[in-house]
Amino acid sequence: MKSIIVFASGAGSNFSSIMQYAKTTDTFSIALLVVNKEDAPVIQLAKEQAIPVLLLNKETFNSTEWIATLTAYQPSLIVLAGFLWKLPEHLVNAFPNKIINIHPALLPKYGGKGMYGMRVHQAVKDAKENESGITIHYVNEKYDEGEVILQKKISVDSNDNIESVSSKIQQLEHEWFAKTIEEI
Ligand code: GAR
Repeated sequence: MKSIIVFASGAGSNFSSIMQYAKTTDTFSIALLVVNKEDAPVIQLAKEQAIPVLLLNKETFNSTEWIATLTAYQPSLIVLAGFLWKLPEHLVNAFPNKIINIHPALLPKYGGKGMYGMRVHQAVKDAKENESGITIHYVNEKYDEGEVILQKKISVDSNDNIESVSSKIQQLEHEWFAKTIEEI
């Protein structure tokens, strides 16, 4: 059984789907949740399942002092599931090829700083794209630029609004993220 560490800072729907999936397999389990907002709903989800939670402020996050805490869990993978801070270089370097992220668009389009959540779907609609999707990729020291592991598409038409795009994307994320983690 391998251990993964999940970083999240939002509602936690991806964290929740990974957690549910982990219960059905003996390949991996979630050893730790790292969060950067004390009121993030995802914290409660972890606590309900007795998963330890590490809450960080920006100063600690950018320091090297807490990296040993992560290393102690010997994670096979670090998974960013709606975590919006850019990772400091020393953190990326401490876990080469072991950090992955999910992005709610077809990178390299609609990625980079400030591109998250509904802003991404708004940009897709504004550009009148007829498709969007999800990208699961390795993380390097630049936003959303690491090697792509998996992309899946949805169609977008004039009847879609950003909420319907968001909901289709979320379904794809929940369908593919945990499976991809297991595969890796
Ligand atoms: C997900 O849609 C994820 O793709 C996105 O944040 C959402 C988190 O939702 N990540 C980014 O936009 C990264 N740039 P969740 O908290 O319900 O899992």
